[in-house]
Amino acid sequence: MGTRSGIRKKTTKSAAQTVREGMKLAGELQPGDIVLLSGDLGAGKTHFTKGILKGLGAAEDAVSPSFTIVNEHRTGRVPLIHMDVYRLGDIDELYELGFEEYLTGEAVVVIEWADKFPELAELPGRVFSVDIRRRDDIDPDRREIRTRRPDGREDNKC
Ligand SMILES: Nc1ncnc2c1ncn2[C@@H]1O[C@H](COP(=O)(O)OP(=O)(O)OP(=O)(O)O)[C@@H](O)[C@H]1O
Ligand SMILES: [Mg+2]
Repeated sequence: MGTRSGIRKKTTKSAAQTVREGMKLAGELQPGDIVLLSGDLGAGKTHFTKGILKGLGAAEDAVSPSFTIVNEHRTGRVPLIHMDVYRLGDIDELYELGFEEYLTGEAVVVIEWADKFPELAELPGRVFSVDIRRRDDIDPDRREIRTRRPDGREDNKC
């Protein structure tokens, strides 16, 4: 279901289940991949990232980078750069923070609130988009996670 559009939808009923979804995605991630996370305040973007980091085998836990903007993790099988652009005014501020140095291909880069800057979806390479929606109408702990995988553009090049 939903495979024709390339979007996979999963429902989680607890924070722990969302962490597990992040762990599953980690199994597909390669150095250089970019994961764009969107979803309202408290949707579960940081919990999903905790799962990615765990799945990459890191020794430490991911914590929200909403104040630091970026947390660097280098203890897993692939380094993870975890960013939160909520507090940035425009995308230039991201580049002023040295964003380009994170895009050299050796790390996985996860960006919370990525939908603030639509240009991020145009970055070259493998870009995953994960949108997390609260379903308070059903249950306060219910979330829908929609994952769009890279469209294979780079596979069409030789
Ligand atoms: N199914 C669920 N998946 C994820 N988190 C859940 C779920 N059910 C309840 N929660 C709770 O929702 C909150 C999600 O917090 P988290 O920091 O991961 O969200 P966030 O999207 O990163 O928020 P922010 O926009 O502040 O960065 C946590 O308190 C978590 O325990
Ligand atoms: Mg967060």
